[in-house]
Parts: sequence; C-alpha cells; structure tokens
Amino acid sequence: MEIMILPDAQRASELCAAVIDRAIRAKPGFVLGLATGSTPVPMYRELIRRHREEGLDFSRVRSFNLDEYLGLAPDHPASYRRFMNEQLFDHINIDPANTRVPDGLAADIDAACAQYEADIRAAGGVDVQVLGIGSDGHIGFNEPASSFASRTRSLTLTRQTRQDNARFFASLDDVPHGCVTMGIGTILESRTAVMLAFGAGKADAIAGAIEGPLCAMNPASALQLHPDARIFLDEAAASKLKLKDYYNEVFARSPYWQSFKEVK
Ligand code: PGA
Repeated sequence: MEIMILPDAQRASELCAAVIDRAIRAKPGFVLGLATGSTPVPMYRELIRRHREEGLDFSRVRSFNLDEYLGLAPDHPASYRRFMNEQLFDHINIDPANTRVPDGLAADIDAACAQYEADIRAAGGVDVQVLGIGSDGHIGFNEPASSFASRTRSLTLTRQTRQDNARFFASLDDVPHGCVTMGIGTILESRTAVMLAFGAGKADAIAGAIEGPLCAMNPASALQLHPDARIFLDEAAASKLKLKDYYNEVFARSPYWQSFKEVK
C-alpha cells in the first residue's frame, strides 16, 4: 500500500485526480471504477476542471460505479445514478451509454449482479477503482463481515451506514435498507485502487484498514491484499496511523510521486 498524507482534502483530491488524468491519457478505452459519497466530490470537480481547461478527454472512457441503493429509481434525488450524473457525468464528455451504475430496480437482482460482473470482464476489467471508506470500514457497500471473496450482490446496510447517509434523505426512515454493491473480490481485481478518506471521523477506519489485521470487521483492510492500492488522506484521517512519519518519508522519496506538480 502507498499512503499519501496531504495537508488537506483539496490537495489530496487534486493529487488523486492527477493520477487518474495521467492514467486516462495513457490508455485508450480506459475503464474507471467510480464511487459516490461526499468524499470524492472535490476529486470529481478537479477532473471536470481538467476536462474543461486541460483537454482531459473522456470520450473513450467507460465507467462502472461501485454500488446503488435497492429500490431507488435512477432519477430519485438520492440515487447514486443521479449523484454521478450531477457530480461528474453531466460536466465531462463521457458517453452516457458508457457509464454503468448497478440497477437498484432490477426484477432479478442476482441475474443483474452476475451480468454486471460479466460486463466489467467484457470491458477488460477496471483500470483504476476510486474508493471512499465508511466510518465502519466499508468499501463500496461491503459492510463488516463481507467476505473478501464476495462478488457483486445485494446486501443489507448497517444502521451505522443508514445513519451516516441519512443526510441525503428526508429522514432516516427514508434510507433504503438494501443495496447492490461490487464485492470485495471484484474490487481487489481492479488494476489500481485509489482510496480517499478525509476528516477525523475516518481516522479509526483508516488505521484499521492500513495497520490493523486483515479482518472482515474492517472490509477496507482487504486492500492490504491489493497489489496497487494508493490511499490519499488529509491530516485528520491520518491522525491515528502509527507509522505516519514512515509513510511521509516514503512519499517524499518517491520519484513517481515527486513527478506530480500537485505534490510541490
Ligand atoms: P462519505 O461516504 O464519502 O459520504 O463519507 C464514504 C463511504 O461510505 O464510502
């Protein structure tokens, strides 16, 4: 794992966007795995800026989102399809037909999940997967006790996650109980995983993910098994890491990371 601790969320988001920019320009037909939530919003804003001001071209990019609520129509104000359209897709030149978000209304959810996996494979696999982390350590909507071998499937949200996300709904009662999410096994097959985490509320989950044991109670700890996982943190999210000085030294000594002007 590579741990990049930046002074604030904006700087971390800009560096993460620069990594994605470089990867998209290097590979026609790039496959981008996307995440929702508050965390990736500044990173998406930076991708939009790069599209508008620096010619970042999404016309041949294909995307797969991690997850969706069960039972929400795509145009529901809190659906992840709507979130993605508003926060990113409507502002870049990606072909809407090349953007995929799991279907929370599929009549046969299991069949739709199997098809989602098949479609990711047919696209050549995810090149870079963007991830947030829940305060309970979830990645995608893989809640604690999710198998590290899990694939795209439906599951039940924890009360903690429903409470965390209630701010997007009229009330806690309106937050769906179910979701469909790529599995941890699916996420581990991405070529590169980039995780963003900001704020003190993520510090425990991040410490467990990076320095704790591999454990289904912290689904993000599965990233310890990922061959190319890059974690972008602000100081608050990094505050409970024991080896913070070491990660900072590795970061500062890396020619790759120092090649980004965002680090200067
Ligand atoms: P947040 O959600 O970015 O809104 O904190 C992260 C997540 O649940 O993965």
